[in-house]
Amino acid sequence: MALRVVVTGAAGQIAYALMYALAKGDVFGPKQPIELVLLDISGMEEALRGLVMELTDCALPLLTKIIPTVDYAVGFKDVDVAILVGAMPRREGMERKDLLKANVKIFKGQGEAINEHAKKNVKVVVIGNPANTNALICKKYAKDIPAENFTALTRLDQNRAQAQVAERLGIPNNDVWNCIIWGNHSSTQYPDVRAATALVNGKEVKVHEAVKDENWLKNEFIKTVQLRGAAVIKARKLSSAMSAAKAICDHLRDWWNGTPDGRWVSMGVISDGSYGVEAGLMYSFPVKCKADHTYEIVKDLDVNDFSREKMDQTQNELKDEMKMAMEFWW
Ligand SMILES: NC(=O)c1ccc[n+]([C@@H]2O[C@H](COP(=O)([O-])OP(=O)(O)OC[C@H]3O[C@@H](n4cnc5c(N)ncnc54)[C@H](O)[C@@H]3O)[C@@H](O)[C@H]2O)c1
Repeated sequence: MALRVVVTGAAGQIAYALMYALAKGDVFGPKQPIELVLLDISGMEEALRGLVMELTDCALPLLTKIIPTVDYAVGFKDVDVAILVGAMPRREGMERKDLLKANVKIFKGQGEAINEHAKKNVKVVVIGNPANTNALICKKYAKDIPAENFTALTRLDQNRAQAQVAERLGIPNNDVWNCIIWGNHSSTQYPDVRAATALVNGKEVKVHEAVKDENWLKNEFIKTVQLRGAAVIKARKLSSAMSAAKAICDHLRDWWNGTPDGRWVSMGVISDGSYGVEAGLMYSFPVKCKADHTYEIVKDLDVNDFSREKMDQTQNELKDEMKMAMEFWW
């Protein structure tokens, strides 16, 4: 049976980079047929029509149906997976509060529509910024869907961290694993490689032993990952799209199929109170995923004073965002 997958913000640049990978089986496998629902806002119908033409012209064997729409009731109808890319963009001079207010409206509407129309076991990943808080709002309004089915994308940050370490060591990206992103998908995130491993000259070693430069790891590395999104915008005059689309595929593929033994990945998920993170916050943790599409937070990793401070800093930002959002969502 075909999986029905909705992508919001379907006329935008991330969705453009994402659709082809999704529709050709990169996420759900080379045997899984897919129905793609392209959801955007009123006024974007013509752009969606162009996208439908392009997807049709790819003549992909797995893509059995394409449904363009600007109607939530159609967009979320019976979906198995919801990829929420569209959000209110931050315009120049816009206050953080006004941005949150606009996004509360969007993600409340989408949460309610998911609750009403999607399958009850729908899996949701939120990309539109502020991704963690938008995911939290969406979850709040989808009352009949389990909280653990809502996640926020921090995989792009994890991929950035992994690539920085691999580049520094001069080894392939796949030879670095278990990098962690703690907290918010923002510049307060804490990219942490204390438990990460690298394969160097055929031997598995801890990343900090391989790098042999605590100063770089504690300063430049963290800053580079935290500010990478802004650096891409500065250079490209557009935000990350290809790398964001790749990260969405990684996030969903691992959630859907499971993570290999001994490996974990970072996802924004509802906190259960682990690592002193307030229960109920949408916080990025290391998680292990199973093939039945469930995941659990990796427990008992060592947290030193340096990490504690960074993990709390990003937690405090999420608490502030939640408090601000709560002013609008009752
Ligand atoms: N979490 C991450 O790692 C990450 C990385 C990169 C970008 N982002 C965020 O992803 C979002 C999308 O980025 P983009 O570059 O594709 O933007 P874009 O401006 O190219 O496209 C956004 C699309 O969303 C649509 N949209 C807006 N509100 C909508 C709604 N309520 N329902 C459906 N569609 C709606 C717009 O019409 C537009 O077509 C932004 O919020 C960006 O900040 C997140």
